[in-house]
Amino acid sequence: MNIALGVSGGVAAYKAAELVRRLQQEKLDVQVVMTRSAKEFIAPLTFAALTGQKVITEMFGGEAGEPANVESAIEHIAVAQRIDLLVITPATANVLAKLARGIADDFLTTLYLATTAPVVVAPAMNVNMWEHPATQENLEILRARGVRVVDPDEGYLACGMTGAGRLASVAAIAQVVCEVLGIRHDFDGETVLVTAGPTCEDLDPVRFLTNRSSGKMGYALADAAQRRGARVILVSGPTALTPPTGVECVQVRTAEEMHRAVLERAPECTVVIKAAAVADFRPVVPHAKKIKRGAGRFTLELEPTPDILADLARVKGDRILVGFAAETDHVAEHAREKLAAKRADLIVANDVTQHGAGFDQDTNVVSLFARDGRELSLPRLSKFDVANRVLDEILHLRHGSRQAPAVHGAPPSDR
Ligand code: CTP
Repeated sequence: MNIALGVSGGVAAYKAAELVRRLQQEKLDVQVVMTRSAKEFIAPLTFAALTGQKVITEMFGGEAGEPANVESAIEHIAVAQRIDLLVITPATANVLAKLARGIADDFLTTLYLATTAPVVVAPAMNVNMWEHPATQENLEILRARGVRVVDPDEGYLACGMTGAGRLASVAAIAQVVCEVLGIRHDFDGETVLVTAGPTCEDLDPVRFLTNRSSGKMGYALADAAQRRGARVILVSGPTALTPPTGVECVQVRTAEEMHRAVLERAPECTVVIKAAAVADFRPVVPHAKKIKRGAGRFTLELEPTPDILADLARVKGDRILVGFAAETDHVAEHAREKLAAKRADLIVANDVTQHGAGFDQDTNVVSLFARDGRELSLPRLSKFDVANRVLDEILHLRHGSRQAPAVHGAPPSDR
């Protein structure tokens, strides 16, 4: 998700640098926009180094006095359209007044008018300025308009006075930003192991048996679980995908390797989600040399691979086990059978023949079958949204119906 961080001129401007770091931990892409007076307190270079992006300081690009160019003249519109949220830290009395009255005389205040994204402001100023009826009236206008105000703390102020006006803590501002964006931390303390992708079972040094799984569903689950606070171990068969940053990825090739990796890592996990399309059979004898064409028919003898989910169920403990069922017919029937046979807590079933579902798609249409008898049919959703619904259901199994339904941000574009 993209956010713009507006920095206006106050002593607390340096704390915005810390906020950048905190928001990056939430995987937010931060574009910093500074007012002219903010530059008196902190150098744009600090933010450029932290974000790896150009910091916007002038309405028409370049430094004051330099000629404008077309791109910079419309940049505020491009930024306004791109962002999912605008947060202003610190917001001075002057900036709050301009926002309240719709004055757009620099990039930041113009961006505020041009964006339809939610806005969060964290004011910081002298106590008398904060308590002044003009400031309080402006805040009322902004609140009534839906702007989230992170009230300043009370304490010793840079001006030497004591009272309200000290910028709220970085943690408090980040919490409001996450709340507005629908980012939750309901998987804090959980370690989630996700398997993804196909497995490959070698016939000879150049050929193998595999399936059409792209790994997208498993990678979306790993990504979503991590965004919600879990430590994530992704055990992946061969895919063309890049593991989400921060996720520990164990690359495997065969069902046997996946079996080993999963059982080895399972003891550290509280949740195991088996989204991988594991080969059910492998050649009894993989040929050391390339199989030659020959003249007649060729019969390949296959043997079953270990059933990872079933083996996990034997050492289940308190762990929540989630299996997937890719079916082409009688989806509900097969899913209920698998729920019982594999002693899983939840089966995510899909009819892979349906439009917009299954292998190598960006969307999925699934039904969830839980051990407590709950059954949910979900509409066609992006795999990231499906992942979040599966995670919601896991929490439901863990805590019962106390868990509120989650609201989540937009998925990353490549999932
Ligand atoms: N699975 C597994 N180990 C295997 C095969 C499957 O752990 N060797 C897991 C899959 O990751 C999935 C679940 O079992 O979570 C169901 O997989 P699926 O292939 O649909 O079920 P099978 O038990 O193989 O049954 P069938 O192929 O007969 O439908």
